[in-house]
Amino acid sequence: MKLVPATMKDSDFLLTIRRDPVVKKWFLDQRKISKAEHKEWMQRALSTPGYQVFILMIRHEQPCGRGSLIIKGKFVEIALAVHKDYRGYGLGTIAIKALLRKAKATGKIPWAKVKRDNRASINAFLSAGMRPFPDLIEFRT
Ligand SMILES: CC(C)(COP(=O)(O)OP(=O)(O)OC[C@H]1O[C@@H](n2cnc3c(N)ncnc32)[C@H](O)[C@@H]1OP(=O)(O)O)[C@@H](O)C(=O)NCCC(=O)NCCS
Repeated sequence: MKLVPATMKDSDFLLTIRRDPVVKKWFLDQRKISKAEHKEWMQRALSTPGYQVFILMIRHEQPCGRGSLIIKGKFVEIALAVHKDYRGYGLGTIAIKALLRKAKATGKIPWAKVKRDNRASINAFLSAGMRPFPDLIEFRT
């Protein structure tokens, strides 16, 4: 698998993934994202230092998902989504391992947040070698 830095040309592919009902379900933000809003997000993400968006590529330049790294203080957040046609073949786990290598290269601590009942994601992060912090609970207003 190759992690290819995303460009504005990937906007439609990334929006397709973002609008996938399964992907949407596991996002914290549950709003329907308009094309304009998505484009704005991409422009912002691609020009923000410490924010990297990748297209997950397999075989001969076949895009199968997206991954991202966002530096937040001393941590680097890993997030990903595999396109629905490619889930369940081990690609999510391979992608996390590849993202982890890039995350470690930043010198920051790799970190990810996953909804409690997102079994596929939990299993993928576990299989890639990451471990949860069971002693932490998130609070919000
Ligand atoms: C999470 C996600 C990236 C996993 O990608 P994937 O390519 O399907 O994952 P893999 O094939 O590598 O499977 C990883 C593990 O999860 C398990 N798994 C896969 N789909 C599953 C499902 N629907 N329910 C429970 N376990 C599942 C696999 O058996 C495997 O477990 P194992 O390593 O113990 O055998 C993918 O499901 C996805 O894009 N989901 C929507 C977006 C999302 O939730 N992103 C994560 C938030 S950061």
